[in-house]
Amino acid sequence: MKEESKTRPALAKLARELAPSGIRRFFDIAASMQDVISLGVGEPDFVTPWAVREAAIYSLERGQTTYTSNYGLIELRKLISEHLQERYSVNYRPEDEVLVTVGVSEGMDLAMRTILDPGDEVLVPEPCYVSYKPCVTLAGGIAVGIATSAENDFCINAQQLEAAATSKTKAILLGFPSNPTGATMPRAALEEIVKLAVARNWFIISDEIYDRLSYDELHNCVSSIPGAFGRTILLNGFSKAYAMTGWRLGYVCAPEAILTPMMRIHSYTMLCAPITSQKGAIEALRSCEAAVQDMIAQYNRRRKFIVTGLNKIGLTCHLPKGAFYAFPSIASTGLTCEEFAERLLFEEHVAVVPGTAFGMGGENHIRCSYATSLEKIETALTRMGRFVERLSGKSLVEQSR
Ligand SMILES: Cc1ncc(COP(=O)(O)O)c(C=O)c1O
Repeated sequence: MKEESKTRPALAKLARELAPSGIRRFFDIAASMQDVISLGVGEPDFVTPWAVREAAIYSLERGQTTYTSNYGLIELRKLISEHLQERYSVNYRPEDEVLVTVGVSEGMDLAMRTILDPGDEVLVPEPCYVSYKPCVTLAGGIAVGIATSAENDFCINAQQLEAAATSKTKAILLGFPSNPTGATMPRAALEEIVKLAVARNWFIISDEIYDRLSYDELHNCVSSIPGAFGRTILLNGFSKAYAMTGWRLGYVCAPEAILTPMMRIHSYTMLCAPITSQKGAIEALRSCEAAVQDMIAQYNRRRKFIVTGLNKIGLTCHLPKGAFYAFPSIASTGLTCEEFAERLLFEEHVAVVPGTAFGMGGENHIRCSYATSLEKIETALTRMGRFVERLSGKSLVEQSR
């Protein structure tokens, strides 16, 4: 028998008050149902490329099961540094400006803990990835949300940031290409934002985990914008581009003066990222570009297919420029996004995520992940079309008359 203590000390206020993620609830319901097509999950449906898996297996066979340097294997850091230099012409020293982390998730936590004192504010454009605001809060900071909208392609500009700033603003958190909107940022707008950050002496934290999934133009790496390097913490990782979510591997790049205290926190809390995953990541950077290109091409095909389909059934959807999410409006149905997602799940067995799970600006939207096969997307669209038709009480043919 478990013994339940009647009296015990209170848990920490931050832990008590932390709200559950709006995504989880839908996953839990969907997991308990039969025949559900999930457009809810934010992870690749591909298996990690074989070369990566083989390299990891081989390293285990050779008994490579130890800790690594706190920073991560130098071979991996050199490859990360070369990769960023080649793609974006940014120059991070592998010795002390690159830190291998347990996913971007750890990198985000380290970034916040390194720059924030209690009460410092971080500007967070929304809708955004569900962890951003909790990470700020858990580090003692205050997340100040700024709503973006479909009218502006879910981009943010310097004027909006300036309007939300106070004397306590310490940093801006950018996450482009965006989860959940698929928005990417034009270089000119980023240049204005960097100028503002320099003028107001703010840090910039840039989560670029979807950088490789930028379909129409080359991704703009924030550190490459003139003036940004010295105040930017760049976060990236292997989860999305290389289909390596379960390997839990990411990296942080920043000038030495910022990275050293981050590494110190990492050394006391995580020690290092798993060696097997680091060995796999070395292989990913060495030999998997063709596999990455192939996955990008498949996501791109699905992107066009789902957006066309959603617009056809009356759910207005802008073409997302990056990541693997469509973010259609459900305003025409008269339902809230929570009602829409819940009824769609129960009535048609399709799981999507209500836009409000991602903060302000998400009202009237749902997030549909297209990191799933074209066949499944097609079936989901048929079911969603039937659902929307039932709601309006009209057939699509009638609507188009
Ligand atoms: C925008 C964004 N950042 C970070 C993460 C977490 O990344 P990781 O698996 O590297 O911890 C996700 C995962 O969905 C994400 O969408």
